[in-house]
Amino acid sequence: MKVRAATEADLPAILAIYNHAVVHSTCTADYQPQTLAQRRQWFDVRVQAKLPVLVAVGEGGVVAGWASLNPFKERAGYRFTVENSVYIHPERRGQGIGKLLLEPLIAEARALGMHVIIAGIDSENAASIRLHERFGFRNVGHLPQVIYKFDRWLDVVYLQLSM
Ligand SMILES: CC(C)(COP(=O)(O)OP(=O)(O)OC[C@H]1O[C@@H](n2cnc3c(N)ncnc32)[C@H](O)[C@@H]1OP(=O)(O)O)[C@@H](O)C(=O)NCCC(=O)NCCS
Repeated sequence: MKVRAATEADLPAILAIYNHAVVHSTCTADYQPQTLAQRRQWFDVRVQAKLPVLVAVGEGGVVAGWASLNPFKERAGYRFTVENSVYIHPERRGQGIGKLLLEPLIAEARALGMHVIIAGIDSENAASIRLHERFGFRNVGHLPQVIYKFDRWLDVVYLQLSM
């Protein structure tokens, strides 16, 4: 398993992993699967902003997971703060791939001169909370019932890594 920068050719695999989470879980607040065109636009925003999209690739070049840095807020004063995303293929979770991706993602944020990474996580997502805590992210906020999905309210916790 190796981690490398994503290319346009990885977008269908990145999209499939994301859309599985959309349909089957509360880890994203999206209701509808995204299209490839939407993912391409998402990728272009990160390329233009020079923010990394990384993929973890296993045998045969199969994408097992991906991670990205995302703009946190548009306003100029937020330019040293980013949000992160990390999604692992459903059959490859719990095998250390999240950790494999998060380490270089944090290193890239540092290299870019970022000051803070924010992770907004469904409060029931124990795996994601554990993953981020493992890298020093600390709980800085709990927003009750800000997401409505699958006919119920969900809380979001914000974890922050200050560099
Ligand atoms: C959350 C997610 C990214 C974690 O990645 P992963 O590759 O499964 O996690 P890893 O195997 O690297 O494990 C990371 C840590 O979490 C722990 N962990 C993994 N699965 C867990 C679970 N279901 N419950 C509690 N802890 C868990 C691991 O033990 C490890 O901690 P440790 O090193 O202290 O033992 C992955 O499960 C996933 O893609 N889930 C669906 C999408 C998602 O929730 N994305 C995050 C949105 S905020």
